[in-house]
Amino acid sequence: MNERAAIVAPAIPRNKYALPPVSLRFMPRLADIAEHPAAWAWPGAQSDRPWVNELRRLYEEPLSFPASMSPQCGLLLHSLILNMRPRVTVEVGSFIGASTLWIAGALRECPVSQLQTFDDFGPVAAGPWRETGFGGDRLDVVRQRVARAGLADLVSFHPGDSGTRLLGMREHLRALGGVDAAFIDGDHSIAGATRDFWAIEPVLNTGGYVMLHDTIPDQCGGHEGPRYVLDRANEIGQGLYERCDLHLSPLNYGFGILRRIG
Ligand SMILES: C[S@@+](CC[C@H](N)C(=O)[O-])C[C@H]1O[C@@H](n2cnc3c(N)ncnc32)[C@H](O)[C@@H]1O
Repeated sequence: MNERAAIVAPAIPRNKYALPPVSLRFMPRLADIAEHPAAWAWPGAQSDRPWVNELRRLYEEPLSFPASMSPQCGLLLHSLILNMRPRVTVEVGSFIGASTLWIAGALRECPVSQLQTFDDFGPVAAGPWRETGFGGDRLDVVRQRVARAGLADLVSFHPGDSGTRLLGMREHLRALGGVDAAFIDGDHSIAGATRDFWAIEPVLNTGGYVMLHDTIPDQCGGHEGPRYVLDRANEIGQGLYERCDLHLSPLNYGFGILRRIG
């Protein structure tokens, strides 16, 4: 039983290089449109935390699908924030508040923390997998939701174009000690996602993170911006970044993490 097999060091090829994404063999994707969910399924049970119950109610709303991140992705984001323990977090794209609650729920556990949330809070049109839109005051809806969740003291809202508002907030963010974590899920065009990245980068601390949602264009409606930023951060940004590319389930919209290392 105590025998130890001899493990030989592998021969390391001299020409190691990254394969193009198309040759990556493991890539969960929907095999059949009939398997496409029509709503997000809440995975957890009841909780005594108001923000968890608020999230459960949010996911019961038809508007939450598919633009709010899945609960599975929310759990991932929540867990990342819990472990990163950022002091200052920026969120671009709140929509109806799902990601805001997942992030702020984690910040509640961190000693000193705050979330600066940016969204145009404009009207929502009907679209694929969403039968009706929303023409009301989305900022008010999210504010009230965050208040009911018991997280209002942690979240500041900045309605309007995110790039413009971020630019205007730079000095304030710098004065707060810089941004430790940013979650970008707003304008998904190449120009839009790049603008958000450029707007945040000058105040992103070394060691800080940029997280991107919807990084697999052919799985999330053809939006190319988040993938563009994830793949090219080292070319288009001033900083030097490490990158981690994650798959999501039940729909593989994709999630990317950049860590600024220089
Ligand atoms: C995909 S949704 C965000 C979903 C949200 N992160 C979640 O998972 O719960 C994108 C949001 O970004 C907002 N948005 C799009 N372009 C924007 C811009 N230029 N400035 C601010 N917000 C924008 C949209 O109105 C929408 O609320």
